[in-house]
Amino acid sequence: MSRIAYVNGRYLPLAAAQVRVEDRGFLFGDGIYEVVYVARGRFIDAEKHLARLERSLRETRIAMPVGRRALEGVLREVQARNRITESGLIYIQVTRGAARREHVFPKAGTRPTLVVTARALPPFPKNVDAWATGIITGPDQRWDRCDIKTVNLLPNVLAKQAAKEAGAFETAFIDAEGMVTECASSNIWIVDAAGQLRTRPLSHDILPGCTRAALAELLAGEGVTLEERAFSQDELRAAREVFITSATSFVRPITRVDGAAVADGAVGPVTRRLFAAFTRHVLGGLPNAA
Ligand code: PDD
Repeated sequence: MSRIAYVNGRYLPLAAAQVRVEDRGFLFGDGIYEVVYVARGRFIDAEKHLARLERSLRETRIAMPVGRRALEGVLREVQARNRITESGLIYIQVTRGAARREHVFPKAGTRPTLVVTARALPPFPKNVDAWATGIITGPDQRWDRCDIKTVNLLPNVLAKQAAKEAGAFETAFIDAEGMVTECASSNIWIVDAAGQLRTRPLSHDILPGCTRAALAELLAGEGVTLEERAFSQDELRAAREVFITSATSFVRPITRVDGAAVADGAVGPVTRRLFAAFTRHVLGGLPNAA
């Protein structure tokens, strides 16, 4: 079955779905996006993702191409037409539209471009130990509004490729002060040497992850307290536990940093517990059939 994409009001086979060569997303990276995980037909943390999409549009002064209700209808339709039932993702991108190439905004009334695609993913991971992976570290070379989810992802792309070439899954970005910001496409958390769960506080330096927010809400029920305080590269290396969060990584244990084992190299108890809590959040308490 061929995949179906939504482009500016039309549902088309992926290969036939196109935007114009003067689209400002293509020319300038003048656009924003969202990635939403779909499990068992449900959009996970949908409200958070749609609220962040609207915020990204406000911050970049791009008009909302359709109303919230209409957008939700498009997401449902793309999900259905691509038969995303068990496990998949919905990708949403909005750009400032197509117009003659000039840096300044195009004339009023230029229609923003809205693209929605979907694809199936492997089932939600059942085994937290098998879900563990490694990261490397590298300099944070991004701009100073990383809180906006823009499609300007060149530093992220290069960092993710560097990780792959090093046999790792992610790169943790290190800022000029030697502090960890986040990873190329995920937020990062540690259980520090004293046993405290920590992640960097929200600011312009990191994306306000929807998974980060959802997990933070689950912590009270797990009897775990969170300290939102930045940690250094050295603290990352000395951590008892490390994990990352994102819409498609969920809670993903990190057991190697720059080739060295985190603690004894096994998934730690806090990560294990939070993975289980997030699994319930995603799968709605039903058994994980994967
Ligand atoms: N990435 N930080 C960055 C830089 C990200 O790109 C992402 C998400 C996150 C986690 O956000 P959330 O929990 O809302 O997914 C943090 C998506 C998945 C992507 O680019 O594919």
